[in-house]
Amino acid sequence: MNEKTVRPLVITIDGPAGAGKSTVARIASEKLGLPYLDTGAIYRAVAWFLKDRSVAPEETNKIDAVLTGISISLSGGRVSVNGRDVTAEIRTPDVDASVSSYSALKPVRDALMGLQREQASNGLVADGRDMGTVVFPDADLKIFLTADAEERAKRRYRERLDRGEKANFEEILRYVNERDLYDMNREIAPLRPAAGCVILDSTRMTIEEVTDVIVSLARELGENKKN
Ligand code: DC
Repeated sequence: MNEKTVRPLVITIDGPAGAGKSTVARIASEKLGLPYLDTGAIYRAVAWFLKDRSVAPEETNKIDAVLTGISISLSGGRVSVNGRDVTAEIRTPDVDASVSSYSALKPVRDALMGLQREQASNGLVADGRDMGTVVFPDADLKIFLTADAEERAKRRYRERLDRGEKANFEEILRYVNERDLYDMNREIAPLRPAAGCVILDSTRMTIEEVTDVIVSLARELGENKKN
């Protein structure tokens, strides 16, 4: 239940893979009565679409034209591309392996800027890699959520086992480290804390503790915005 709905705030949560951004952002958005925007899902939808159209990340000259034919919609936690529900497809190991390469490309990032900004008219909690640095630089509250790589890999490992999937911890840890390096060192919109952000290290914090910090900060801001 929303104990008290604050005035429409724009809250950004950036950070590396496995820091708990999506879970925290979703719960905080529910508590604050704000829409939730999972931008990782949007990048995954684009990666799925480009793969489906057999466009490799190296074929940058084709990407602009192919992306004019994409329409992404997000509703109630489901993601559709041109009317087809791809919520499950965008979480496959295949998309996992290619999404970083596609999301490093300028035509991809440019194509998604408008779509992301349009979602903010009623305020939102948005999670991703460049929410506070590039997409919503004037956000009311910017969070950089991180955790040790080992802890993040452990969380991914447990999630896979809980879903009844096979998992290899060493492989996941290698993958987490590789993706961090790639996302932090890409030329466009690299992953880094935004100016004026609050840095939260969730290594020894529960989801609830992290969410509580963000919700309290947002409520304080909401009160100040009213006055
Ligand atoms: O958060 P995630 O694992 O679902 O994100 C998938 C990929 O998309 C990740 O490799 C980084 C990229 N991404 C991005 O470049 N910018 C964002 N705002 C969100 C995700």
